[in-house]
Amino acid sequence: MGPVEECCVKTQVAIIGGGPSGLLLAQLLQTRGIDSVVLERKTKAHVLSRIRAGVLERGLVGLLEEAGCADRLHAEGFTHDGTLLSYGDEMFRVDFAAHTGTPVVVYGQTEVTRDLYAAREASGGPIAFEVEDVRIEGADGPTPSVIYSQGGQMRRVDCDFIAGCDGFHGVSRQAIPLDQRQEYEKVYPFGWLGILSETPPVNDELIYANSERGFALCSMRNANLSRYYIQCSLSDSPEDWTDEGFWEELKRRIPADQAAKLVTGPSIEKSIAPLRSFVCAPMRWGRLFLCGDAAHIVPPTGAKGLNTAASDVHYLHRALTRFYETGESDGIESYSTDALARVWKTQRFSWWFSSLMHRYPDQSAFDLHMQVAELEHLRSNQAAQKAMAENYVGLPY
Ligand code: FAD
Ligand code: DHB
Repeated sequence: MGPVEECCVKTQVAIIGGGPSGLLLAQLLQTRGIDSVVLERKTKAHVLSRIRAGVLERGLVGLLEEAGCADRLHAEGFTHDGTLLSYGDEMFRVDFAAHTGTPVVVYGQTEVTRDLYAAREASGGPIAFEVEDVRIEGADGPTPSVIYSQGGQMRRVDCDFIAGCDGFHGVSRQAIPLDQRQEYEKVYPFGWLGILSETPPVNDELIYANSERGFALCSMRNANLSRYYIQCSLSDSPEDWTDEGFWEELKRRIPADQAAKLVTGPSIEKSIAPLRSFVCAPMRWGRLFLCGDAAHIVPPTGAKGLNTAASDVHYLHRALTRFYETGESDGIESYSTDALARVWKTQRFSWWFSSLMHRYPDQSAFDLHMQVAELEHLRSNQAAQKAMAENYVGLPY
């Protein structure tokens, strides 16, 4: 740490983490005249280089509209009314629009974050990049602060509230004493190898495939940018996979007619993500609120990570706005309960969809029959499809 000399600013809400949760919260607060300071550990270029989620629920789209950040999304995003599921040689479609009246929007997390940064910069809201040694003080009392160093100088933000939006590996969750938080976790025995390629998507809707060689997902970002994933071993690294090896494996996992029309090309990004379910409860400790991946992780099947981060932001923004506009702290008191009620439901959906679509190393013949029976039930039962569609497009806030 640098010299003890401290440079101090005062704000209403100190936001740790400049990912989608932190930036969305900052912009929503800004529309209500509530000041915040965003502290981000990395550079903006680094944050924007992370390729992650691609499917936005109606609720997140609504929050981006409210934050004044949805123009490009409406111009460039793709509305999807349904998705395809395949197993073996069978394929069927779940129609979101017919079952729920609501579509999802395909628009990358990278683009959402880019739009949020543009809005933050246009509004002159402060963001400090490359902050180090971030420490939370006094969150259990009336005058919290965040201490950090930047360019070798120690700095302090005094605030009314702290939003911990610093992802799974951040410091905010660790600031809650161990004896006052519970952590619930399930680690899955496989990962996802994902690639991005400048090729037209194989299909105009997403395809989730359960094959005997493991799960595969065909997704997209735009008309000439495809995102594909295959289930891989946890011991694999991206360098183990050539582009040719990836395409061959993908073709073997999706229906033959889709494989025949798959356009392949060089990958422009290749990465592996492990699969994990994780929840920290409570999500509030005094004047510290956890939001997004700082509090919970879902396995990616069903694209709930970013969308669940957004629902936390909804509850927190609503609670803080009510506090500043009316002096009432009931939303603050119930933040953790409100957010967790929805978090557990999205955990259930992500766990269910992951369990349905992947091959497990220790799967018995009985387990396999259960998967096929569940897929056939989903294929043939409109009530089951409706339940899936309701969860996929996003449960109400
Ligand atoms: P993050 O995006 O993690 O942002 C947290 C920010 O805090 C980061 O910018 C980080 O640099 C910063 N930070 C961390 N520590 C500190 C600190 N001490 N001080 C200051 N700043 C700090 N979801 C899907 O729905 N579909 C997907 O396909 C998908 N793929 C994913 C792939 C990977 C590899 C990962 C990690 C996640 C993926 N997710 C996916 C999940 C989704 O991207 C996250 O749920 C979403 O990014 C959560 O946003 P967040 O702002 O809460 O956290
Ligand atoms: C994407 C990721 C998902 O986990 C998912 O269920 C759908 C799409 C994607 O990155 O495009």
